[in-house]
Amino acid sequence: MTRLLVRDLAQLATPARAPAPLRGRALGDVEVTEDAYVLCEDGRVSATGPMSALAPLAGDVLELDGRGLCAVPGLVDCHTHPAWAGDRVHEFSLRARGASYEELHAAGGGILTTVEATRAAAREGTLDERVKTHAGWMLRSGTTTWEGKSGYGLDRETELASLRAVRDAGGIPTWLGAHAVPPESDDAEAYLDYALAEVLPEAAELARAADVFLERGAFDAAQARRYLAACKDAGLALRLHADQFTEAGGIALAIELGARSVDHLEATGPDGVAALARSDVVGVLLPASALVLGRPMPPARALVDAGAAIALATDFNPGSSFCESLPLVCALACTQLGLAPEEALSAATVNAAHVLGEPDRGRLAPGAPADLVLLDAPDWRYLAYHLGGDLVATVIRGGEIAWRR
Ligand code: NIG
Ligand code: FE
Repeated sequence: MTRLLVRDLAQLATPARAPAPLRGRALGDVEVTEDAYVLCEDGRVSATGPMSALAPLAGDVLELDGRGLCAVPGLVDCHTHPAWAGDRVHEFSLRARGASYEELHAAGGGILTTVEATRAAAREGTLDERVKTHAGWMLRSGTTTWEGKSGYGLDRETELASLRAVRDAGGIPTWLGAHAVPPESDDAEAYLDYALAEVLPEAAELARAADVFLERGAFDAAQARRYLAACKDAGLALRLHADQFTEAGGIALAIELGARSVDHLEATGPDGVAALARSDVVGVLLPASALVLGRPMPPARALVDAGAAIALATDFNPGSSFCESLPLVCALACTQLGLAPEEALSAATVNAAHVLGEPDRGRLAPGAPADLVLLDAPDWRYLAYHLGGDLVATVIRGGEIAWRR
């Protein structure tokens, strides 16, 4: 038996034990223990509590000194696009001078620029290395569980290579087969014919979920319905990119099809908020992407107050959010979305894990996987307070030190 004891922590903070996804007031229900310990045995948390309650331990135990540190659950990033090569720094410069993301996309840049570079990397066999590099960045930011989408291949070979690369780097693969229409396809319908016939059968073996970009210039609601219904029949859970620039029926479609989540929501109005709040679909908020594109922030406070389940994620990708840091996203949640640090923590751990179908992750409680982050901070709320800070001191995954500063 391998045992790891993290002792003398300034604080231990964890979302309280209520059934996920946490909604309404429960979202902000975080338990904080001062002067705490965490004991991990065989990859799971076996006990937590105040140091005063720590019984003497017989036998071999590796001890970590937690003085000056706070423990929170390993962060869960439920929306990332890590399977890409090349970069978009040129477009970033153009956007800094006023070009819009949608204009660049319409002119054949944007996602399609990355598709070209990603196809080349898959052909040359370098895509795996890129995904591993991106996964390393996430780990150093405190992310212990992450979803990774394909979507920069849009052909059979590169889409499947992307899903394998995500899996091999330790991620949970999502097939974003309907991200854009590639240049060799005549139109969205022709592309979907191809993707559903040629890619879905194998993608369904590799991925756990499917995702679509429902937006003008990408796929409309009828096309999204066709794609998602076929993916559901193939056994995949469903996700949607929707209401990023325009409201085009994404929330209604997500509810109709019983999707796990609908993500973005920067353009969602009061009716969408009310509909989502009445449903079991989780609204995944991506404030780093809204910030980078200069979009309005999603109506997070209204969603939580109406009783909707929300999660937070980075949307890590080379175009709209070149950001792998969930601590930074938590800072944006508190400064831009009107969430409290407690709500941000639950949204980036237990609720994000729910979106990924990983119900035992995202809490520090006996029996949970021993995934935790030690923050270099006297108070766990520095997670959101120390904007862009060098906060993550140690990351423990499965009871082992996965990264240390
Ligand atoms: O979630 N909106 C669509 N897809 C990504 C961005 C992709 C890109 O710009 O490369 C997103 O923001
Ligand atoms: Fe995205």
